[in-house]
Parts: sequence; C-alpha cells; structure tokens
Amino acid sequence: KLHLAPLPEAQPCSGPLVLVILDGIGLGSRDERDGVFISHTPVLDALLEEPLTVSLKAHGTAVGLPSDDDMGNSEVGHNALGAGRVISQGAKLINEAIASGHVFQGEAWQRVIQAGMDDNTVHFIGLVSDGNVHSHIDQLHALLDGCLRAGVRRVRVHALLDGRDVDQKSALRYVEPLEARLAELSTDGRDYRIASGGGRMVTTMDRYNANWPVVEKGWQAHVLGQAREFPTASEAVRTYYREDPKITDQYMDSFVVADKDGPVGPIVDGDAVVFFNFRGDRAIEISKAFEEDDFTEFDRVRVPKVFYAGMMQYDGDAMIPKNFLVEPPIVDRTLGEYLCGSGVTSFAVSETQKFGHVTYFWNGNRSGYIDKNLETYEEILSDRIAFDLRPWMKAAEITDRVLEIIAEGKHRFIRLNLANGDMVGHTGVEPAIRIAVATVDFCLGRILEAVRQAGGIAVVTSDHGNADSMWTEKKGQVAPMVAHTLNPVPLIIKDYCGANNFRLTGVAEPGLANVAATLCTLLGYEAPEGYEPSLIGLDDQ
Ligand code: 3PG
Ligand code: CO
Repeated sequence: KLHLAPLPEAQPCSGPLVLVILDGIGLGSRDERDGVFISHTPVLDALLEEPLTVSLKAHGTAVGLPSDDDMGNSEVGHNALGAGRVISQGAKLINEAIASGHVFQGEAWQRVIQAGMDDNTVHFIGLVSDGNVHSHIDQLHALLDGCLRAGVRRVRVHALLDGRDVDQKSALRYVEPLEARLAELSTDGRDYRIASGGGRMVTTMDRYNANWPVVEKGWQAHVLGQAREFPTASEAVRTYYREDPKITDQYMDSFVVADKDGPVGPIVDGDAVVFFNFRGDRAIEISKAFEEDDFTEFDRVRVPKVFYAGMMQYDGDAMIPKNFLVEPPIVDRTLGEYLCGSGVTSFAVSETQKFGHVTYFWNGNRSGYIDKNLETYEEILSDRIAFDLRPWMKAAEITDRVLEIIAEGKHRFIRLNLANGDMVGHTGVEPAIRIAVATVDFCLGRILEAVRQAGGIAVVTSDHGNADSMWTEKKGQVAPMVAHTLNPVPLIIKDYCGANNFRLTGVAEPGLANVAATLCTLLGYEAPEGYEPSLIGLDDQ
C-alpha cells in the first residue's frame, strides 16, 4: 500500500485543503480577445496579487503531449494534476506505435485485418480532425494505409465532425482530403468510402452518461444506416452549411452516405469496427453499445456480431473495450492512492460534464473509488443543453455542496471542478462567456470565504485555457476560437490556516505536474518519490 511520509517540520492545520479547478480558465493576452480578462472577476483579480501565485504550463510536453504546438486538454491536465508527473499521453504513444509499426503487429489489428480478408468490411469510427485531443486524422490515414498493405478490400469510415478542438467550420478541411485519399485507395477491386457521420456533440461522442440519445443517433447512422442521405460526406456538410448559415460542425446533424442501392456502409455480422479516438471519456458509451450483451441505454434494434477494437483501452478497470490497438499510458501511483494509503479523507465534486474529470481522469483514467471508506464522489446533474443558453451551468449547486462539506468538517482534502470557463468557452459566444467567467468568480468568492471561516487552505488552478481566447485575427479577419489555448494557468495558494509559513521554492518552468507535490506539502507530507517537485517549502518559524 502506498503511503506518504509526514513532513517533520509541518504543523497540523485544523481546516481542510480545498482545490478549486477552474476548467478552461487560462492566463491570456489581457486584451479584448481574452474572455477571462474582460469579464467581471474581482475575486480572481485579487487572488492573482497574492504572494503564493505561480503561472503553470498546461499544454504540450509539460502534460505529455507530442509537441508544444498541442494545446492542453482536460484529460492530460487532470492526469498531470492527479499523478504529479508528466506521463506520455495517448496522442504521443500512438504516433510512436505507428512509426515503429508496433500498432500493426498486435493481435487486435490482426483480427481487424482478418475480417477484411474474409471479405467483410473494416469500419473506422472517430473524430476526423487534427485537434489531437480525442484523435488525430493522420492516425486514421496511417490505419487506412495499413488496410491497403494488408489487402483489405472494403473499408468504411464513419466520420464525426469536430469544430470544437479546431475551427468551428473546418470539417471540409479534413473530409475532402479524406474522400480524395479513399478514392485513390479504391482501385484494384478495393472499395474504401465514408459511410456516415455527424457533429460530435449530437452524434456518438457523449460522455459520463450525460445524454445517451447522442450515442443512439450515432448507432442509427453508423450501424443501422439510418439518417438523412447524401451522395457524399462533403455534400452533406455543404448542404448543412447552406441550409443553416449559423450551424457549426460540432452540432451538425448526422448523415449517411447512400447510392442507388441505399446506405453504403451499415455495420453487419462479421465486420470489424475500430473506434480510432484515443481519449476515453467520449469513447466509452459507444464502446459499451458495441460490446455489452445486457445493454439497456437505448434500443439498438440490431446488434451485429463484429470484432470491436478501440484505438486504446479507455477504462482499464472496467476493461472497456476488451480489444484495443495500442496500450494506454500507465498512470499509476496517483495522489489519490497515496492519500488513501495515508488515511486522508477526501471529497470530489463536479457536474456531469466534468464529473469524470475530477474522478476518472484525476485517478489516472480509472473509474470508481480507490477507497470508499475514505472518499466521497458527488455528481451534480448537468443540463442537457448548449451551454451558451445556461452559462451559469451548475456552479452554484456545486458551490453549495462544497460549502456544506466544508461546514461538516469530515474531509481533509476537497476538490471540485467548475466547468463554465471550458464548456461555455467551447461555444465561442462572448456574452455567454462573460456570464460563465463571472459566475465562476462569484462562486470562487463564496468558497474562499468558507475556507477562511474553517481555517483551511484554498488552492486555485485550472487544467488548461479556453475562455482566455475567444477569437483570433487571421489576415485581418476575426475568427471565433472555440478550442482550448496554449496559455498557462494560474496556481494560487490562499492560506487561511497559518499554522505554517509557506514560501515559493522557485521551481523553473513549473507545470500542472508540480501541483500534486504542492498539495502534499500543504497537507503536511513529503511528496512521493519521482513526483515533480513541490512549488512551495516551509520557512522556519
Ligand atoms: C471536449 O471533449 O469537450 C473537448 O474536446 C475537450 O474539452 P475538455 O478537455 O475540456 O474536456
Ligand atoms: Co474543453
């Protein structure tokens, strides 16, 4: 059992340690593009003047992504926060497995290919963009090349449109070259095509059981071949753009590609299906729909007997899915395991959209409790709505719960995620972003006051930027920016306990992975071996 050694010089604090994760709130350009800067944030503004304030790197190599051109995201951000180290993430591991050829040597790929050799169809379902948060289109292209080399004759791609980790209306940037490549591959008796698709927020990629009808819609399009029909995917996108000039890719209705004989790629017995996203949160539900015998979330109508594989395994404990192309990163020795091993009680809360972030991602992509006797996880149900229509989301409800838990005094470590900066940031709607950020700030004020009254310590940070960049200017043209940013995030320690004198240690280039060791110091423990160093030390009294 993992446990933490006490810091000999630390004095105990009677109040709790409260970690507030302001999802999607980064430190931006401090001008009119910066939705955090322009919003009413008196609490955050005052906090940023605190002496124990550091700016943390939250993107690229600091969170285990392939390069510093990669923006941060909640998975890698919460993994780094909760595991105290920089872990090579899925995006990077798959690139390596493709470059070394390893991905094509595994048993799962062999079975995918076998289905193709037996004259059944190989299907690829996933997000077609270069966002590198859930997937990367280059990885799909590499798998298609693999099918070609292996002699697979029939391939179908089910293309989920992004517009959330990339530009809002960029679908054709990925779909057209994909169609061109598939056409090139369709020679010598091969037949490779896009068969269905739809915007990711309405088709297939739901998360944390927030809205199963989204997955059902995907199932109908991909498996049953039921959705509005178009001669090609790019024609579907162009038609939807024309019919509703306000539509953006992430919300685009599902579609199937059909020819004179009907839909070109329903999934049938004997086929193989690869879900080529590497990130788990939005891949788990569709994987369950393919794999579970006693599935009850919606009526699947027809359940084809297929070989199903994920790009990765999305949940190691629940073994979802059973088969996968690349081993997921091992995120072990998490802070949660150490705290449980040391008898520290903890409470985690967020609303549905981010609930798994402070539990599953925080715990290294493991679902469920580490120790139910010491931990309590609570989910506040999110609205099922585009969040620019309810930018306050459930921040007040989360805050109410945190205040009750602080008052109860049973938990030593409390962590919460306020989703607004990110979820509303992804809509790019400025008036809504202002309300989202102001809401978060207001709630933060309530939490700080409660921590003060309890004589605890508050730590305020974020997992990555989003609301801090609402638009960009390209060639004099303003383009809305709904994706995450490359900006750093704040780390602010507000000590209302006063039992110890903390000082910054001046770690060079601090990042999210330094937070776990910092939390250990604040709780009066040495950081585990191998963790990135704590950002604070204890001054002699
Ligand atoms: C999403 O899944 O909503 C986005 O792709 C990434 O957002 P998150 O990393 O903040 O969850
Ligand atoms: Co986000």
